[in-house]
Amino acid sequence: MTGHRLGGVLITQAQIAARVRELGEAVARDYGGQDPVLVGVLTGAVVFLADLIRAIAIPVTLDFIGVASYGAGTGSSGVVRLTSDLSVSIEGRHVLIVEDIIDSGRTINYLRRNLLTRRPRSLRLCALLDKAERRDEEVEIDYRGFSIPNHFVVGYGLDFGGLYRNLPYIAILESEPGE
Ligand code: IMP
Ligand code: MG
Repeated sequence: MTGHRLGGVLITQAQIAARVRELGEAVARDYGGQDPVLVGVLTGAVVFLADLIRAIAIPVTLDFIGVASYGAGTGSSGVVRLTSDLSVSIEGRHVLIVEDIIDSGRTINYLRRNLLTRRPRSLRLCALLDKAERRDEEVEIDYRGFSIPNHFVVGYGLDFGGLYRNLPYIAILESEPGE
């Protein structure tokens, strides 16, 4: 069995706060008068979304959607399913998906296809982290927090086996081989 331990901090609390403020200002500027629906992807995006909405100085509606990608550990299997659905209709609405991280791109593309069948007026993506090196499928990210290198990261909502979501910064998870 391979063990893991918390490595160095990749993005500090102050860096996150500054970037979230900028993203919130950009969203408010672009969506003025449109009452967008912000769809947070459970569970990882919850911390980011909670901070982001307070940086958006226009009316927004909040909702959540749950997706799970089969297979635990640090890789995405690409087999995605819905685990909990929205509670509002997004037909004719401006929708902004809020996601923690885009890795292979499979989860977000599944979600995008799913939401598009409900005929939103527009559908855009805001992702805190972009691990572009790992991309298998092309993804258009309209609002990007940080581009990061190919490390498995935890904290600020992101987990490993359900843990570390409560860290106020983003850290690298290091594996300890040969244990
Ligand atoms: P994708 O389908 O490969 O793009 O994977 C996206 C999902 O995998 C994210 O929503 C995360 O839940 C999870 N994920 C991908 N990379 C990381 C990481 O570095 N740390 C924690 N979760 C990750
Ligand atoms: Mg996720």
